[in-house]
Amino acid sequence: MNFSMEALLANRVAIITGAASGIGRASARLFARHGASVVLADLNAEDGEATANDIRDTGASAIFVRTDVGKMADIRALVEAATTHFGGLHIIYSNAGFTPQGNAVETREEDWDRTLNVCLKATYMLAHCGVPAMLASGGGAIVVTASVHSIRGYARSTAYQAAKGGLTALTRTMAADFAPRIRVNAILPGAVQTGRPGSLTQEQIDQTAQMCALRRIGQPEDIAQAALFLASDMSSYITGESLVVDGGLTSIIQLPPGV
Ligand SMILES: NC(=O)c1ccc[n+]([C@@H]2O[C@H](COP(=O)([O-])OP(=O)(O)OC[C@H]3O[C@@H](n4cnc5c(N)ncnc54)[C@H](O)[C@@H]3O)[C@@H](O)[C@H]2O)c1
Repeated sequence: MNFSMEALLANRVAIITGAASGIGRASARLFARHGASVVLADLNAEDGEATANDIRDTGASAIFVRTDVGKMADIRALVEAATTHFGGLHIIYSNAGFTPQGNAVETREEDWDRTLNVCLKATYMLAHCGVPAMLASGGGAIVVTASVHSIRGYARSTAYQAAKGGLTALTRTMAADFAPRIRVNAILPGAVQTGRPGSLTQEQIDQTAQMCALRRIGQPEDIAQAALFLASDMSSYITGESLVVDGGLTSIIQLPPGV
């Protein structure tokens, strides 16, 4: 197989959720730079539209569709917008999410339900509505943002961990169901500097960096590169997998200085 490193996603149509910010925004930009027509989905219309505009300014094709990924009707409309506007669908990057905190006693039932909807059920709904369109377009790839929370315990993260743990199982079963024409893989980011600017203090950033073997906190682009790999034919023999992208946070035990 020959790859043009300049255009790994030429002639592909990609939906990216959570594309108004952080990992989703970096991925939408990178996918577009690699030739994809990108459909940006997010609740945040202002930043989503602005990102789509920035991408169009580079000469690439992009639209923004305001979407609540926790709602089936919105997901259906999103897939319809992609196929109507760009004539097909090859890639779904299910990335939108948020990180509520709380143990099982603290977590209210409505917060549990919302977290499971947005962080887990959304990926099922994207596949439910999007896979027929992907198959009609000749197949492609689904990429899911899970988390290192899928594989390691973390205090006061009940609903989020349950959702993110479920995503890796959902990834495997969808990979089984939709092979060979659609590959399905998950990315498990570690600590990534996203969200609102200033939401982490410099001290927190430095402390987090010291927990990672690579001695830095992740940037959205670090995850976007992994998403590009899993969305493109570069990963043509990989499906059902979970790729940890965390600078060594979970694989290497950091010992205290001098030990
Ligand atoms: N930042 C990290 O350290 C980290 C680590 C592991 C996993 N993740 C995961 O990465 C993904 C992206 O998060 P990020 O770090 O880029 O955060 P972010 O806050 O920068 O971006 C998340 C985006 O998702 C959108 N969103 C939230 N709820 C939505 C909904 N119901 N419908 C549509 N859009 C919605 C937000 O508006 C936002 O634009 C999430 O799934 C998150 O759980 C992040």
